[in-house]
Amino acid sequence: MIPNAVKTLVTSSSGAAKRLVGKANFSAAAQAVAKPNPNPEIQYTGIFVNNEWRNSASGKTFATVNPSSGEKIADIQEGDKADVEAAVKAASNAFKFGSEWRTMDASQRGRLLYRLADLMERDSVYLANLETLDNGKPFNDSFHIDVPASVAVLRYYAGWADKVHGKTLPMDGSFFGYTRHEPVGVCGQIIPWNFPILMAAWKLGPALAMGNTVVMKPAEQTPLTALYIAELVKEAGFPAGVVNMVPGYGPTAGAAIVNSPLVDKVAFTGSTEVGKIIQQQASSTIKRVTLELGGKSPNIVFNDTDLDYAVQMSHFGLFFNQGQCCCAGSRIFVEEGIYDDFVEKSVELAKAKIVGDPYDQNTQQGPQIDEEQLTKILQLIESGKKEGAKLQTGGARYGDRGYFVQPTVFTDVQDDMRIAKEEIFGPVQQIMKFKNMNEIIERANKTIYGLAAAVFTKDLERALHLSSGLRAGTVWVNCYDVFTPQSPFGGFKQSGFGRELGEYGLNNYTEVKQVTIKVPQKNS
Ligand code: NAI
Ligand code: MG
Repeated sequence: MIPNAVKTLVTSSSGAAKRLVGKANFSAAAQAVAKPNPNPEIQYTGIFVNNEWRNSASGKTFATVNPSSGEKIADIQEGDKADVEAAVKAASNAFKFGSEWRTMDASQRGRLLYRLADLMERDSVYLANLETLDNGKPFNDSFHIDVPASVAVLRYYAGWADKVHGKTLPMDGSFFGYTRHEPVGVCGQIIPWNFPILMAAWKLGPALAMGNTVVMKPAEQTPLTALYIAELVKEAGFPAGVVNMVPGYGPTAGAAIVNSPLVDKVAFTGSTEVGKIIQQQASSTIKRVTLELGGKSPNIVFNDTDLDYAVQMSHFGLFFNQGQCCCAGSRIFVEEGIYDDFVEKSVELAKAKIVGDPYDQNTQQGPQIDEEQLTKILQLIESGKKEGAKLQTGGARYGDRGYFVQPTVFTDVQDDMRIAKEEIFGPVQQIMKFKNMNEIIERANKTIYGLAAAVFTKDLERALHLSSGLRAGTVWVNCYDVFTPQSPFGGFKQSGFGRELGEYGLNNYTEVKQVTIKVPQKNS
């Protein structure tokens, strides 16, 4: 996500934040035709192996569903072990020493990535419409955030392709030594449904820039944009087998990737529960594993902050993407002195939120992804009520079609309530009170997670102190959800390990090889 896009997003997520309107980073021409279209043509529903489309070996398909209506969009080929094996074989062949991909100039790999980014930009309106259909996020967000942010990440990593290199070493003895930063090999990439196209870009960018090959499994809820990108990969000119895409379910297709002896590395984004299974299963073949998992991120607001701004950013930090963000600011700690005003203004914002058809450009909140998530969110809301949190607004399903939830605000939340400990992944805001600095770091860190945190204050020393004390992979000061391709993102504790984005993100996709050459002593 780019700063300008974030500004747009704040606006679309919060009608009150009109002054933060920004522009998407697409050309005026692209924006002029940025029309929502609720019926984008579904072009690719197959399994993509060796730059070709195929049906599942089993003949099975599964339905991808429109979360706004609960109705089927299309039948998708259901990949399973046999399909994953074919994809892994293709990726393995493409990675063979001497192959077209392995002998390609690094700069040329970068050019292919730039080309892929250009093609995604060319088709950005279509991709945004497809994303909204499959995921339910407002078209404004898909078009102004998800798609341009994906393009930006691919361009960022395209630039890295020929800029990663080893060192020569002053070795003891008569030896010449140097290191090579080589690709890891075949990378299995398993991605979630909350940011389907963006997660595909975050994972493809560094893997391809460093010369790896990929077998990707999009989430079963949202396969459509990833499949379209597969076709763009081919159009961009990547050699066959470099990128393979296998739609299917986690315990079947996903597990086959994790268990394949020919897969060298697994990158996963999703639930902590599945992250644990993946780490365990990957151990049998000592795969490299990176995990980006859940969160329960603290957002700490001090008396001395610009109140209206902090309310808006806190609202955005929780409600963005229907609350379906691993880094959602879902524990908002507000200092005593502004607590009542903060609550009043937050409730006002939540009440004013426009929920509904994601293709309507006034809509600020679309549906949750599926019935399972809807049920989970409603159950956690019930637990909040039972445990004595004060329900200020919302608290129920919205309408009776699709998977919408009313924007919900709980106050008087205590640290040991389920809604303060478990990831809700929905539009449910928890506001709690704190008295002073002494207690807040400990309370904020009292969680199994450590993905993100935020601090709102005008006091620089306090901001620096908290930035050191908070155990989280990202600390935002006076902002929230600021993502740029240059800045690393990932978790402490049970939020996972490994960093995505930035230069750090390249580490996951390279192996260091030491080459040692004996040098004869000339003068002996
Ligand atoms: P999930 O972790 O089951 O799904 C994420 C991906 O993992 C999907 O592609 C899925 O097919 C795959 N998967 C599932 N089981 C697998 C297995 N045994 N082996 C390999 N791959 C497997 O998440 P789910 O069930 O969709 O959502 C449950 C909760 O997880 C959410 O309520 C939310 O709290 C959290 N979540 C966190 C995300 C994040 O961005 N960190 C994204 C999605 C969900
Ligand atoms: Mg699951």
